[in-house]
Amino acid sequence: MKTLLILFVFMNLRPGHCTETRDQILSITPITQEQVDILKNVSTQYETSLWQPASPQYIKEETQVHLYVPANSSETVVDLLEKHNITHEVLQANANELIEMQTKNDSTDPRSGATFYERYHNLNDIYFWIERIIQDNPSKVKLILIGSSSEKRPLYVLKLSLNDNPGKKAMWIDCGIHAREWISPAFCLWFVQHSLSFYGQNQDITFILNNMDVYILPVLNPDGYDYTWTTNRMWRKNRSVSKSSGCIGVDLNRNFDANWCTEGASNDPCTEIYCGEFPESEPESQAVADFLRNHKDEVQLYFSIHSYSQMLLFPYSCSREEAENHKDLLEMTREAAQKIRRYYRNTYKYGAGSKTIYLAPGGSDDWAYNLGIKYSFTFELQDVGQYGFLLPPSHISKACNEALIAVKTIALRVIEKT
Ligand code: ARG
Ligand code: ZN
Repeated sequence: MKTLLILFVFMNLRPGHCTETRDQILSITPITQEQVDILKNVSTQYETSLWQPASPQYIKEETQVHLYVPANSSETVVDLLEKHNITHEVLQANANELIEMQTKNDSTDPRSGATFYERYHNLNDIYFWIERIIQDNPSKVKLILIGSSSEKRPLYVLKLSLNDNPGKKAMWIDCGIHAREWISPAFCLWFVQHSLSFYGQNQDITFILNNMDVYILPVLNPDGYDYTWTTNRMWRKNRSVSKSSGCIGVDLNRNFDANWCTEGASNDPCTEIYCGEFPESEPESQAVADFLRNHKDEVQLYFSIHSYSQMLLFPYSCSREEAENHKDLLEMTREAAQKIRRYYRNTYKYGAGSKTIYLAPGGSDDWAYNLGIKYSFTFELQDVGQYGFLLPPSHISKACNEALIAVKTIALRVIEKT
């Protein structure tokens, strides 16, 4: 015991391993308006990254704020919180280590039992994976180039078509619209793998694929995703440069034509929820919108995969109005959440976006809904903040299986109805 203790102290005293100098994730709950204002200041003045809510303007009393605080500002920030008696809790004391765990995992470690799908992959590896899937399954998977990103990377959609029933409908799944939400692309890969491996084995996926083709866009925002691997793990937006301000990035999930740039988005290019110059100003959102417009009679079901907060959302997020088929959508997400609870013992909230999280205009789900895709969903996968965007690779399988059962539950209901 004594030796262990000494060893522990020794390890912590090694240069660069002192706990106070690591990046931290804090959960902070302001109680008074004064504390709210201080916190808004902290998140804008210091070099921090606001995880929840998406923008400082939505910080309010008695609501948890999740803040990523880099080592160099952590002492100042914590001192400030303590000076003003603001309740806070350290969710992660060493976020650097979490980031390392996620990236070094990309190379095959023979000692780890994790499969390819239980690890995170950088953009190049995802492009290689796409190539291999196409080569290995030429009759089942087609590659569709729907456009290119602002830094000219290709936007590839995989079309899964496992059966040639005439008049088949389709579902769409996009992942990685927000760069730092790494579990999202991981889910798209997971879904493809599951479909190809379990078609003809698993009853639900077989039935679904007999009745629907699937269009999958594994990384909607490749520039941002690449940037989170090379430069800044906390990046959210795409990487296009605003001419007026020099600031970088449009929030692609504020760039669609659904009450574009109203409350819940910002016209300031330097914010995390910048809506862009005009609807579909960005090549990524335009490519998706063009593709769906061209396939709108075929695509009945739309999913956009995000993280984190464990929610199954449906329109509207761009207004407080109820969707015309609100009851159906609510019932579908209720059933999906119930399955997740029963099979995976985990809790997901469900409901219309505007009432369940916050007003968020210009989202792809609302836009797809208004185009006529009446079953349109945004999933927020694990977790609820313990690791946030830094969900460890060891959690990928459970997180993806939860989302998978939700996708399947809803797809089965949609097939039943049509
Ligand atoms: N958290 C995501 C975002 O900020 C989704 C919010 C819900 N909005 C939506 N349109 N579904 O973009
Ligand atoms: Zn997101």
